Amino acid sequence: MTDQLTGRTVFITGSGGVLGSTYVRRMLAEGARVIASDLPGHRADALKAAHGDDAGFRFYDLDVGDEDQVTGIFDRILTDGWQPNVVLNNAAITGELLMGAGKPFPDFANTSVGDWERTLRTNLTGAFMIARQMDRDIVGKWPCALINVASMYALNGPHHEIYEGMPFKSFSAYSTTKAGIHGLTLWLAGYWARRQATVNTIAPGAVFNDHSDEFQRRVGALIMAGRMARPDEIADAMLFLCSAQAGYMTGQLVNVDGGFSGW
Ligand SMILES: NC(=O)c1ccc[n+]([C@@H]2O[C@H](COP(=O)([O-])OP(=O)(O)OC[C@H]3O[C@@H](n4cnc5c(N)ncnc54)[C@H](O)[C@@H]3O)[C@@H](O)[C@H]2O)c1
Repeated sequence: MTDQLTGRTVFITGSGGVLGSTYVRRMLAEGARVIASDLPGHRADALKAAHGDDAGFRFYDLDVGDEDQVTGIFDRILTDGWQPNVVLNNAAITGELLMGAGKPFPDFANTSVGDWERTLRTNLTGAFMIARQMDRDIVGKWPCALINVASMYALNGPHHEIYEGMPFKSFSAYSTTKAGIHGLTLWLAGYWARRQATVNTIAPGAVFNDHSDEFQRRVGALIMAGRMARPDEIADAMLFLCSAQAGYMTGQLVNVDGGFSGW
């Protein structure tokens, strides 16, 4: 604990997932006030059970794909007396999420336009709508930071063979949205710079979440560090990007992938 985030009020979408819940725990420990949000359900319930008694924690139900909900979110937060100065576009439809729901993404040839558009709606349009609402309600009123969450599969393609025989696979819409979200970062960084708002992208690598030994071996062979990340190792970089110490960084993509993108 270093109080690295004292004075930061961080709003996070998709906060109940593997990484989101780690960010919430670590940010609270570093002195941030945390405004968590997610779809209603067991992940949201677990987060509220873990942190609901903490004075520095609030939770809002929020579907980032629902325009009306996103349009009203900062108004609700500000009316409740909280003033976010860091926003994380973290919510996403991920392979792990689909697998957990028993609905793995179809093979490429069987991907319907509906499958594709559902992923774009959450991962990309949702991020755009959150950023647009920041612009309307926050940017220029006080210094703030937006962090868009991409992936090791934003600017690098997957090695498809590592998914052979696995219960999950990478999917095209995911990679497309993760590349696209960095485009949003680059566009907004210059657009907001004179209004004291920074915009950066973090691209996490492969995070361990009960993957099989065989999958860990296959993906580990592609990573300089030779292994998957622990969620806290991604959080270490995220905490820095959320801190005042990252104030002169904007328009950047930060890879936290154990060297996957560095060969
Ligand atoms: N875990 C990894 O290996 C990894 C690697 C690279 C990038 N990422 C990215 O990091 C972020 C967090 O990943 P994670 O591993 O915690 O994923 P996760 O699947 O565990 O969690 C994703 C969260 O997003 C929420 N969500 C989904 N649709 C939503 C919607 N419409 N509105 C609001 N919330 C919604 C889910 O409820 C869930 O809590 C994602 O953007 C993901 O793409 C993760």
